Amino acid sequence: MKKYRIDLFSDTNTDPVPAMRRAMCDAEVGNEVAGEDPTVNQLLEKVCALLGKEAAMFLPSGTMCNGIAFRVLCQRPGDLIILDRTAHPLTKSAGLIAGLVQAQPYVIDGVRGIFSAQQIESIIAAPSGYNLARPRIVSIEQTTNLGGGAIWPLKTIEGVCQLAHYYEVKTHMDGARLLHAVAETKIPAADYARHFDSVWIDFSKCLGAPMGSVLAGTQAFIDEAWYYKFQQGGGLHQAGILAAGCLYGLKHHLQELPELHAHTKQLATLLSQLSFLDLNLEEVQTNIIIFEVRHRYLSALDFEQRLHEQGIRVLALDQRRIRLITHLEISISEIEVIFTAIRTIGEEPLTMGAA
Ligand SMILES: Cc1ncc(COP(=O)(O)O)c(C=O)c1O
Repeated sequence: MKKYRIDLFSDTNTDPVPAMRRAMCDAEVGNEVAGEDPTVNQLLEKVCALLGKEAAMFLPSGTMCNGIAFRVLCQRPGDLIILDRTAHPLTKSAGLIAGLVQAQPYVIDGVRGIFSAQQIESIIAAPSGYNLARPRIVSIEQTTNLGGGAIWPLKTIEGVCQLAHYYEVKTHMDGARLLHAVAETKIPAADYARHFDSVWIDFSKCLGAPMGSVLAGTQAFIDEAWYYKFQQGGGLHQAGILAAGCLYGLKHHLQELPELHAHTKQLATLLSQLSFLDLNLEEVQTNIIIFEVRHRYLSALDFEQRLHEQGIRVLALDQRRIRLITHLEISISEIEVIFTAIRTIGEEPLTMGAA
């Protein structure tokens, strides 16, 4: 039985639907490390076509995609990876950049996870010297997780990537939620992806799969990535069972994203009417809402705790901010339940105080 009746902690917290489970059961399989799994190969072909890339590899997680891509694209220990302060490899990947990649993060303070070419120009264009670490990768996140699901505009991507490539710095897109950006802007995934040397997408974040990510790039990039895939224990065997879940997600759940975003915006609209919250509606673009609690007595942590007591799981990012992530299991009726729960908690102490 599930611990929470409504789980807004992460969009990975969805159960595969029965038809997806059946597709996984029936998958044709083979040895993935030998390139002999037909279902994995089918998935890779589809993702290459979707992203306009030459080659791809199947991996169990997005964190592994980031780590492997960084290791391929960096040249020596101490290299710099330029990324936003809120980026997942920096904030939520157990010290991945220093610990595994042996690189250094060069941190940019973007706006909701998005930075401009001007913001990285001084480091990208810095003169080289024996005593200076070299910038090797600019990494961006589409959409931004801790930036509240914000979509990197294509023009901004073009500016950042053109500058990087001019100075022979590689570009990487953490596309955990790239398909959310595509669903919202209708810009093809390949139009975003063509600016990047490496890119990956994820099937467990709103495509309903239990796990699975695909990392893509040139054939030479993927050939080199295989070395690190093995080294990190990412060489798989009958992985077609997992790839079948990913294929099912692409075929059946991808089309649900626009409605999910509409529900998320509906929830944001309701919440924006509450006087004890601060929420900028224009900032809610996809399936993530971040708002500030401005309550006289209750902090974000208090809200988190009280919602948990009612079986609704959210994440207090700090004393002031709460993050909600919606997903395939959040229907319009749940939107009402979430709103009512938050409103009731926020209004309760005032009523008690007045009594
Ligand atoms: C933007 C972003 N990148 C990477 C990851 C890591 O993905 P995984 O949990 O599959 O390792 C996440 C997970 O939520 C994420 O939000």
